[in-house]
Amino acid sequence: MNVREQFDAWASAGKDQGMEERHWHTAKHALERMPLEEGDRIVDLGTGSGYALRALREACNTGPSIGLDGSPNMVSNAREYTDDTAVGYLSGDFHHLPFHTGSIDHIWSMEAFYYSQDPLAVLREIRRVLRPGGTFSCAVNFFEESTHTHEWQENVSIDMILWNRQQYREKFREAGLHVATQDRIPDRQIEIPDVDVFPFDGWDSRHAMVDRYQVNGTLLTVGVSPWWQVSAFPAWGLSDVIPGLPASVTLCLSEWDRTDTLVAVWARSSEKSTW
Ligand SMILES: C[S@@+](CC[C@H](N)C(=O)[O-])C[C@H]1O[C@@H](n2cnc3c(N)ncnc32)[C@H](O)[C@@H]1O
Repeated sequence: MNVREQFDAWASAGKDQGMEERHWHTAKHALERMPLEEGDRIVDLGTGSGYALRALREACNTGPSIGLDGSPNMVSNAREYTDDTAVGYLSGDFHHLPFHTGSIDHIWSMEAFYYSQDPLAVLREIRRVLRPGGTFSCAVNFFEESTHTHEWQENVSIDMILWNRQQYREKFREAGLHVATQDRIPDRQIEIPDVDVFPFDGWDSRHAMVDRYQVNGTLLTVGVSPWWQVSAFPAWGLSDVIPGLPASVTLCLSEWDRTDTLVAVWARSSEKSTW
């Protein structure tokens, strides 16, 4: 099964609403940390029922926003849950974001990033579409340190990425994002019964449930697109303009002022460039 088949089936079975209900326990705390201004353009990657954008519109009067999802059935469910014309839902793959470079203020993603087949490419796309100073809030419950989540892979036919906290930070940096913060948000709303009730609801022990929901909870990593951007692109060499430099060495520099205006570019990369 691919992403579309897997999540179309879940959407048709109404599982998008169950996910919304469960993920909201910690998503609401992560969403309220986003540094939003009224009118900001937000993108939600792997939007599911689309609840995050609806909540941000209500709480912060955010601007035109798009929820992207690889499942057309998820998208059509999300569209049904709102008549707000400032919020749109699109079918698409977060490896290829249908947005102009530097056009998005903030990006949100909950419980979706680890389905990526090429996560570094996704992070680079995010970096490309964010305006300088824009942020990417990446929330995941499935990560290396949260060992009691690992068996979820058995329920999903797509290979899931199991990074640890350090790997999230390293990969963000590799893609050109500064790591502003990283935190684990406990789920304090989940009901955890007394020890003698176990096994309970698929959990062997109370300890496992506490570890999953309260010790590890949701891992939130927040990346920021830098004001100063320095990147190396192997496909396009500075040797084209400076004879004698090795072809593999490339350098792109751009400078943005605080009104988001690109004031200078010193080098331009290949057509895959983000500039
Ligand atoms: C577990 S659901 C989470 C939905 C929602 N963010 C939430 O918190 O309830 C993951 C979603 O990511 C979407 N997804 C997975 N891989 C994707 C990709 N490559 N591009 C776009 N969406 C993707 C799936 O279709 C699914 O709706």
